[in-house]
Amino acid sequence: MCGIVGYVGPRESQDILLAGLARLEYRGYDSAGIAVIDREGSLGMRKKAGKLARLREALDEAPLGAGTTGIGHTRWATHGGPTDLNAHPHLADDDRLAVIHNGIIENFSALKAELEAEGFSFRSQTDTEVAAVLLGREYRAAGGDLAAAFRAVVSRLEGAFTLLAMHEDHPGLVVGARRNSPLVIGLGEGENFLGSDVAAFVEHTRRALAIGQDQIVSITPEGVSVTDFDGAVVEVEPFEVSWDAAAADKGGWSSFMAKEVSEEPEAVANTVLGRVQDGQIVIPELDGLDGLFQGVSRVIVLACGTAYYAGLVGKYAIEQWARIPVDVELAHEFRYRDPIVGPETLVVSISQSGETMDTLMAVKEAARLGAKTLSICNTQGATIPRESDAIVYTHAGPEVAVASTKAFVAQITALYLLALHVGRVRGALSAEVAGAAIAELEALPEKIRWILENEQERIEQLSRWMSDTRSVLFLGRHVGYPIALEGALKLKELSYIHAEGFAAGELKHGPIALIEPGQPVFVMVPSPRQGATLHAKVISNIEEIRARGARVIAVAEEGDAAVLPFADEVLRVPLAAPLFEPILAVVPLHIFAMGLATAKGLDVDQPRNLAKSVTVE
Ligand code: F6R
Repeated sequence: MCGIVGYVGPRESQDILLAGLARLEYRGYDSAGIAVIDREGSLGMRKKAGKLARLREALDEAPLGAGTTGIGHTRWATHGGPTDLNAHPHLADDDRLAVIHNGIIENFSALKAELEAEGFSFRSQTDTEVAAVLLGREYRAAGGDLAAAFRAVVSRLEGAFTLLAMHEDHPGLVVGARRNSPLVIGLGEGENFLGSDVAAFVEHTRRALAIGQDQIVSITPEGVSVTDFDGAVVEVEPFEVSWDAAAADKGGWSSFMAKEVSEEPEAVANTVLGRVQDGQIVIPELDGLDGLFQGVSRVIVLACGTAYYAGLVGKYAIEQWARIPVDVELAHEFRYRDPIVGPETLVVSISQSGETMDTLMAVKEAARLGAKTLSICNTQGATIPRESDAIVYTHAGPEVAVASTKAFVAQITALYLLALHVGRVRGALSAEVAGAAIAELEALPEKIRWILENEQERIEQLSRWMSDTRSVLFLGRHVGYPIALEGALKLKELSYIHAEGFAAGELKHGPIALIEPGQPVFVMVPSPRQGATLHAKVISNIEEIRARGARVIAVAEEGDAAVLPFADEVLRVPLAAPLFEPILAVVPLHIFAMGLATAKGLDVDQPRNLAKSVTVE
């Protein structure tokens, strides 16, 4: 849950580290620190609780010596609160060795006790300092060979970690190791980089290497070497990063979230781009993998949070077009319940970051039980796709704001593509139905743009009026239900307002007790064309809550006049075939949550207590 960056080369490492940390701050932002080996060969370190700006101030007050080797860290606290002392880097070996870490070392208490018994002392409450002190001890034992010390240390660690370290004895060298936590290498000319993801260095180079599980990497200005934990050399193929640096910048927007919501049309368009040829879905990543879908009698979608809600939408599409039964499960619930899974199961995982530990572990468990695995992911070089049999990338571009918006619509789009593809491969879907669906799919970006152009201002005004609201409910049926859940999640995480999403049909089974005069309720109204019954049932639900004083904000199709007499506010979305409604209905909810948090003066990019990439269980 932390961001890490490393640099060796001819340039000032401090500037490169701070720029890299700024791009990784979405991964954690309760403290930050850097260490640099200066041109005289001595190691200096600054670290500070709070956001990166606090570290910059500390560096302005007490600058570090100029140097060309360094490591930097932005933290999301696990062991030990967010204090200056608990921030990384942690020093060992008479402060000549600096270490940063992402992950959790589960056996740190036992290791700490062992080291304390040997006379080592600790300044922080973190598991990381234990790894640092252990590395210092092993460095001495290995006669000053940092990579050998790493090999000795990793064999003692349990849990998940990416560790980076550098030592005063070796200017121009940074060594890293990873197990179940991300680490990517950026390949420059006469310089090299390390990062939790490519955003850390994409402004300097787009050539990258993703190292595998249980591997150790050493970077110098001249080169990169990778070994496994036993020291055997590993060959790693470089790849080209398709994001450019500008895509990860705010580009004049007030926040990354504002920019990312405005990019929802492109996120959908780019995910479809190149995947429709002559009226057929062609997913190049799945070329030659049709076998993956044969003999499959069941799909299990695994994901967390917003990605899970995308999965719930995907269930409707896969069942309708591919005619395979689908279960959608929270990844963390799947893993610990002895699931019944085998070769007849296709597990589809969804993850923007590709690093969510709960999802990664669930995918590994499914693979261990013999399931076929396919991942839908937005981040190149990430771990989950590399652990899966097949990948379908979403092309939402880098998502920096902690709460997911454009990646969500891209995930739903990828699920539509997958459902249509599997439906055709398995002969469950006629060319005619697929063709009509593809036409709908291709029309979505323009429809989302319509909402942004025509409704955004009004929704923002509504969110300002509602900035004192203490609780908001969201109701939906059928594909509107996952959107109600997503609307509630986005509102609570951005604005810290109590919000709940319910299946509208569930109302009478309990939640209606929450309705009192003035209670705002967003209702996803299905298209009247979706079947008169469903539409009529949602209108009845609205009547039931209105009768009890609810203030109804309907998200309804343009031209649906039937809803007007029943709603206090109607947020319009363009007409779309029923299965495609969710991708439109969610846009007003994203705008609303962002607008309300902004009206309350909150940081929409970095909500409290959260981190973008949840790389601990
Ligand atoms: C909510 C949000 C989270 C993520 C979840 C999974 O706005 O962003 O709920 O969707 O943590 O993250 P990924 O998709 O990276 O696996």
